Amino acid sequence: MARDILKTLKEEHDAVRALFEKINDTTDRATQKRGNLLENIEANLLPHAKWEELVFYPAFNERADRDGLVTHAEAVSEHHAVEHSVIPEVHESEIDTPEFAGRVKVFGEFVDHHAKEEEKTMFKMARKMFSAEEREQFDIDYEKWKSTPEAAAAAIPFSDGDGDGHRRRA
Ligand SMILES: [Fe+2]
Ligand SMILES: [Fe+2]
Repeated sequence: MARDILKTLKEEHDAVRALFEKINDTTDRATQKRGNLLENIEANLLPHAKWEELVFYPAFNERADRDGLVTHAEAVSEHHAVEHSVIPEVHESEIDTPEFAGRVKVFGEFVDHHAKEEEKTMFKMARKMFSAEEREQFDIDYEKWKSTPEAAAAAIPFSDGDGDGHRRRA
């Protein structure tokens, strides 16, 4: 079967959803596990979101009709809310507290909502906008991009590397 960027992005959504299920299952005492899972979520999610912002969303926007433009604006706005509000609030809470648990739950709910919108609306539109060849090329380009310094930098903007759950933006 031919490669398809929409399939790859959907699989990545599912991988992140599974990590959120795990972190939502942790107890307040499981600080190391929480820290590792949060790092893992961000390492998966942030490069994904960055590439969408750099490549996929602009390409989508260029071909979008009015409904597509609305969908695009919605997606960008959701990325901003997660980046500038939801994730910082998670990091401002102590990792061994119910507050952290509640905030990480909201983080997961935001991501799930956003991913659903992409899958049910945006990707459906994109399937009509882009040919199978174009979607395959996106997939190849995305894989290459993942080994660039830009992708690596995207994965750790909230990390200060001391594992205390207080990782801040670099
Ligand atoms: Fe997105
Ligand atoms: Fe996505």
